[in-house]
Amino acid sequence: MADLDNNGTDLGGRERESWSNKLGFIFAATGSAIGLGNIWRFPYVAGENGGAAFLLIYILAILLIGLPVMVCEMTLGRRTQRNPVGAFRRLAPNTPWWLVGALGVITGFVILSFYSVVAGWSLSYVVKAMVGTFTAGMDFEGMFITHVQSPSEVVGWHGVFILLTILIISAGVVKGIQKWVEFLMPVLFILLLVLIVRGVTLEGAGAGLEFYLSPDFSEITAQTLLDAISQAFFTLSLGMGAILTYGSYLRKRENIPVDAGAVVGLDTLIAIVAGFAIFPAVFAMGLDPQSGPNLTFITLPAVFAEMPLGNLFGFFFFLLLSIAALTSGISLLEVVVAYLIDERGWERSKAAITIGGLIFLFGIPPVLGYSTFSGFSFMEMDILDTYDWLTSSIFLPLGGLLTALFVGHVWGARQSVEEARKGVGRFYFESSYIFVLKWVVPLVIAAIMIAGIWQSFSQ
Ligand code: TRP
Repeated sequence: MADLDNNGTDLGGRERESWSNKLGFIFAATGSAIGLGNIWRFPYVAGENGGAAFLLIYILAILLIGLPVMVCEMTLGRRTQRNPVGAFRRLAPNTPWWLVGALGVITGFVILSFYSVVAGWSLSYVVKAMVGTFTAGMDFEGMFITHVQSPSEVVGWHGVFILLTILIISAGVVKGIQKWVEFLMPVLFILLLVLIVRGVTLEGAGAGLEFYLSPDFSEITAQTLLDAISQAFFTLSLGMGAILTYGSYLRKRENIPVDAGAVVGLDTLIAIVAGFAIFPAVFAMGLDPQSGPNLTFITLPAVFAEMPLGNLFGFFFFLLLSIAALTSGISLLEVVVAYLIDERGWERSKAAITIGGLIFLFGIPPVLGYSTFSGFSFMEMDILDTYDWLTSSIFLPLGGLLTALFVGHVWGARQSVEEARKGVGRFYFESSYIFVLKWVVPLVIAAIMIAGIWQSFSQ
């Protein structure tokens, strides 16, 4: 007799782990979703795209595209009990659909390689706060530039971050991922709250709130729409099978539509709230909201420097940014590791160490992009932005589009609904889910990708 798990799936004699309680999956999936994308990436992308108008389009993208794709990935994972490659292989054997899963695994690899660079900056700022660097009158722009231009420092912190993800992933799904997210996520929520209150009560914050809350639609172009979709995929960890993989550890009695709603809701809340913490502060400090990826690392230290106990708050903030990054980084590594375990029969810690090591090496170009390789530029982007653009603007939306096409037209939207119904019975919005998944998601993504990429290249 083949060894069967609770879904009647042949696991070749190995037991597949599952989250040990209801909150395990929610914490893990929100931990994956909430990360640098919310606190570091969202505010500067919104800043570059005119603030409030972007915010509205982004919310639309989250609801119309993000939510259905999230349900879709969760059902794919739970039904197949597999990593992305195995999931497509299982539902459409002997077809090229597994390539969509393979694209996801590669995308996870590339994202973690630059994600870890920014996470490394964050870790180094934890130490800067601990030694009391955030004092009034400091040149924080200079401080950040000096940091990103010191090869040994940035390579070291990038390595430390990868090492942490390896340690957690090696320990397994329940004893590694679940144990850590259950501890780290609640802490994150509390500290962010403290920071918002501080941000909106700063003198001169009003201009920032106005920028963030009054839409100017004249700034919207095809590229803005692509940026909004890219941000939606990135922040929700969609389009490359991370949520699919976490979903493969879900038990049948858990409620997928409710879980998806909770993850999307919490993630969106945190992104919006991060904007409230940052834009007022940017304006209060007389900084430019369009200053790009550096926003968090220059503006916030300047804010901390002005407040009593600034180094303590700064320490908490960067610790929490690092924690948010860590709970996301592990979900990226887990996709590649799950692939090697399921499809290639690797042992977990061997997979985690090998892949972690390769990702570290692949991250060397972006980590040295401000020193050794500062001459590189692609469409005016440095190496880190290029890795980000390629994955967020192309691979993730493409992965989402193909996943929706697959579920909507190959596996069958009905099958996905049936899987989602387990543990719920019928759910609201079933027929709108089917319609949106089959037609709206693929067509909207395709149109926006074509227009947005066209515009990027023709500039
Ligand atoms: N969602 C995370 C963030 O906002 C990053 C992330 C984790 C991610 N896993 C992912 C992005 C999978 C895309 C795909 O920071």
